[in-house]
Amino acid sequence: MELAPTLLPTCASVKVSVIGAGKVGSTLTQRIAEKNLADVVLVDVVEGLPQGIALDLMAAQGIELHDSQIIGTNDYGDTAGSDIIVITAGMARKPNMSRDDLTLINAKIVAEIAQETIKHSPNAIYIVITNPLDVMTYLVWKITGLPTYRVMGMAGVLDSSRLQAFIAMKLGVYTADVSAMVLGGHGDLMLPLPRYCTVRGVPITELMDSSTINELVERTRHGGAEIVKLLQTGGAYFAPASSACLMVEAILRNQSRLLPAATYLQGEYGINDLFLGVPCRLGCRGVEKILEVDLTKAESEALQASAESVRRNIEIALAVLD
Ligand code: LAC
Repeated sequence: MELAPTLLPTCASVKVSVIGAGKVGSTLTQRIAEKNLADVVLVDVVEGLPQGIALDLMAAQGIELHDSQIIGTNDYGDTAGSDIIVITAGMARKPNMSRDDLTLINAKIVAEIAQETIKHSPNAIYIVITNPLDVMTYLVWKITGLPTYRVMGMAGVLDSSRLQAFIAMKLGVYTADVSAMVLGGHGDLMLPLPRYCTVRGVPITELMDSSTINELVERTRHGGAEIVKLLQTGGAYFAPASSACLMVEAILRNQSRLLPAATYLQGEYGINDLFLGVPCRLGCRGVEKILEVDLTKAESEALQASAESVRRNIEIALAVLD
């Protein structure tokens, strides 16, 4: 049978590979597919796990009415030609562990994933979720050799959306009317910025007293740990998956969204040679611009402290890989 020439320039579809079929990876796969953003390849080292999840999600396709193909695999070869690679694989923390406690074990896992995936997708954009996230993002950049704008870490969107939710709950307003901003590393020293949080343009500093704001800032800093403690096994996954999906969408749809992401700093905010959460413009080329917002002396010092803690962990991670 001879096929008529296609009206479209190409039939090739957009492809996102999600590495790690745990709860974050599988929920992210579901979100990407059900939003019709791309075909998804879900990879895991455990035989049967990604295949089972992919089959389960595909069985819902006729109900959810999306066009995305989802495949599960243990073979990195299946990720070939990915537009975006999201790394979620690694150990999750247990109650009373900090994200930094995962550095040694996750550095090895993430390094191998970066080596294996870049072979098959030399033009991909990477989004890193594995903790400690800012450190793992640095490793992926080092190992893949990609330009800095094609490698980023997820957590600013997650930390900001947690603060956004906490502000909305406290004020009893619609969450989408709240805009919140959290900078810094995805750790206990992250920097929620109440001065840049608003409800429909009204600064929250006019809507709440400072002790209430401090309470929400602290809750945000420990937002991940609060969920780890409640669940006892594993950590948060719905909001992390939603946050990563938002970034995938901003890139694939070239939305030029202003989102906080862990990006490579070369002097911005007085910080050099680190990936750290700052506001970025995300579009089809990756991180297209870094926005430098004014910080007070105290905020700037807090950001430096967060940066130094990330730097110490990068040294630990690089030593493990030597
Ligand atoms: C959290 C993990 C993703 O904050 O670090 O829930």
